[in-house]
Amino acid sequence: HRKYVPFAPVALKDRTWPDQLITRAPRWCSVDLRDGNQALIEPMSVAQKKQMFDLLLEIGFKEIEVGFPSASQPDFDFVRYLIEENRIPDDVTVQVLTQARPELIARTYEALKGVKRAIVHVYNSTSVVQREKVFKMDKAGIKAIAVEGARLVKEHAAQHPETEWVFQYSPESFTGTEVDFAVEVCNSVIDVWQPNPDRPCIINLPATVEMATPNVFADQIELFCRQVKRRDSVVISLHTHNDRGCAVAAAELGVMAGADRVEGTLLGNGERTGNMDIITMAMNLYSQGIDPMLDFSDMDKICTVSKACTQIDVHPRQPYAGDLVFTAFSGSHQDAIKKCLDLYQEGDSWEIAYLPIDPRDLGRTYQDVIRVNSQSGKGGVAYVLQSKFGFNLPRWLQIDFSRVVQKEAEVTGQEIAADKIWTLFQSTYLNA
Ligand code: KIV
Ligand code: ZN
Repeated sequence: HRKYVPFAPVALKDRTWPDQLITRAPRWCSVDLRDGNQALIEPMSVAQKKQMFDLLLEIGFKEIEVGFPSASQPDFDFVRYLIEENRIPDDVTVQVLTQARPELIARTYEALKGVKRAIVHVYNSTSVVQREKVFKMDKAGIKAIAVEGARLVKEHAAQHPETEWVFQYSPESFTGTEVDFAVEVCNSVIDVWQPNPDRPCIINLPATVEMATPNVFADQIELFCRQVKRRDSVVISLHTHNDRGCAVAAAELGVMAGADRVEGTLLGNGERTGNMDIITMAMNLYSQGIDPMLDFSDMDKICTVSKACTQIDVHPRQPYAGDLVFTAFSGSHQDAIKKCLDLYQEGDSWEIAYLPIDPRDLGRTYQDVIRVNSQSGKGGVAYVLQSKFGFNLPRWLQIDFSRVVQKEAEVTGQEIAADKIWTLFQSTYLNA
């Protein structure tokens, strides 16, 4: 899709801080069909999962967590469907989640029989609260669960050499775990898996619950990256949740701190306040001139399919996706946008006040950029007449007519649609 020259780097170009910038997209993994699905009031049916899977492929995801097949029969059936119906493109790797328990690991491999390539994602909780209150286990006991899980994952994989296996381990509730202990557990898992640069494993560090400011999370990631074994053979992945509303910021800072990969969902669906919204993070990169390697150029379709699969509406102010995120009602904003758009020519760098990116990059038009109510001014009214009806008003008439429109809006208390503006114009000046 269309690339454009962003305006934000004007502010970034000459600076000397901070010392870290994201210069390319991380590896993305969608967990819509697993974390997203497990948080829904009504989990997706197999038909809805197929629809979501196809959408994720269209967007360009190369790694997709497709379920937790040992925990639910529909997830098991869906994984079987993907494999038996040959629905997984050669350049796409499916991922499945399992707890580090022998019977669940065995069932996971049953679900994956015959797959060409898959990521087996094994996890157990390592945080202080889970150790003390949920499992009532000491650190050694928790580490033993992880190591035994890793061993079983490797043992099962060895029985199916026809598949290309990738192993992933998550110290669940990493944000509530002492970093030193998380490193100790993960290094023990790495000892079992013996990855090398040609066959790396993935260590996924979840903010299962977002517990601190994003810079603290980034410090945890940086510390971890410094101490983890075989760094050249380990892909460091992030999985942030949005409890404090900062999941995207945490993932961005985590990548700056050394992570290679990010898990998240479309529009941030997921447990409680949701997972990290991949659309926001990817489009943030795009707005800084970095190719996100994902295609969000048909945002309306993404919103429609997402709603059909999750039964969750898209908030009108959802970054990049909401209906109102490129709309200005207030007079001074409209005036500035109109002036910038009047000067803008195709191929120019995008330097339009109040519009961080070109709405057309998301498949949206300029139609809704300016809408008129009682807070609007001459620029907005003039923009509507010009863009919709080809009428260029001189400045004095813009001022005069905007008073007419504003009065009407104050009386009705409502938005004045384009057709109504045109009728008002006709009745005020043309039929008078
Ligand atoms: O949030 C979380 O910790 C998870 C793990 C299972 C990766 O979803
Ligand atoms: Zn999660």
